[in-house]
Amino acid sequence: VPFATPAPLNTKRLIVRLVDEGDLASLMEVNGDPEVTRFLPYHVWQSMAEARLWYERMCSLQLAGNTLQFVLIDKRSATAIGTCLLFRLEEDSARAELGYVLARSHWGTGVMFEALRALLDCAFDKLQLRRLEAEVNPRNLASHKLLLKLGFVQEGLLRERWLTKGEPTDVNIYGLLRNEWLAHRELRN
Ligand SMILES: CC(C)(COP(=O)(O)OP(=O)(O)OC[C@H]1O[C@@H](n2cnc3c(N)ncnc32)[C@H](O)[C@@H]1OP(=O)(O)O)[C@@H](O)C(=O)NCCC(=O)NCCS
Repeated sequence: VPFATPAPLNTKRLIVRLVDEGDLASLMEVNGDPEVTRFLPYHVWQSMAEARLWYERMCSLQLAGNTLQFVLIDKRSATAIGTCLLFRLEEDSARAELGYVLARSHWGTGVMFEALRALLDCAFDKLQLRRLEAEVNPRNLASHKLLLKLGFVQEGLLRERWLTKGEPTDVNIYGLLRNEWLAHRELRN
């Protein structure tokens, strides 16, 4: 089954819901920051026109049923402070890939961990996925630590998997299985 549209996820500090065109101005501040996109295989957004192109691409991927693009809405400011997504759904294998980006002003506050806990619950319970994957630039230590905290296992290194700002980049691959998540979640609760 392709991704069904999930209801907004409610956590202590956040609403995690599907992206809306009205979020683009806030997301411009996130994705327009070169520090945020430093380890990612795409360029910083230069303009709202680029933001809208991204939004259109996400909408068509969502319509195709293989992507869910969420935003993290900070309850205090009622604005989008980051994004997280499930993409490259492989329906036959009940598998998808995880991605996330957080505004620099919110790094180190644990909100992405909070958002991803809710998203993983949704992915493994409601959407019945069996395996999630994440790809990370080996120099991206914050992302590496975040994935380990969530219970992901570093499974290997894919050579020159990405072009990051024109540079071939090795990428670490991480995996998390539903059974591991359920066990890990019980340990944490
Ligand atoms: C990845 C990201 C969401 C992590 O969010 P964060 O709020 O910085 O996460 P945390 O502060 O909880 O950091 C996670 C861990 O990494 C550590 N860390 C953070 N920045 C670090 C750095 N530059 N170098 C080394 N360790 C770092 C933290 O101390 C923390 O470890 P701890 O749990 O042992 O204390 C955020 O850094 C981000 O949006 N980066 C840019 C986009 C990106 O790279 N996305 C991931 C693509 S794979």
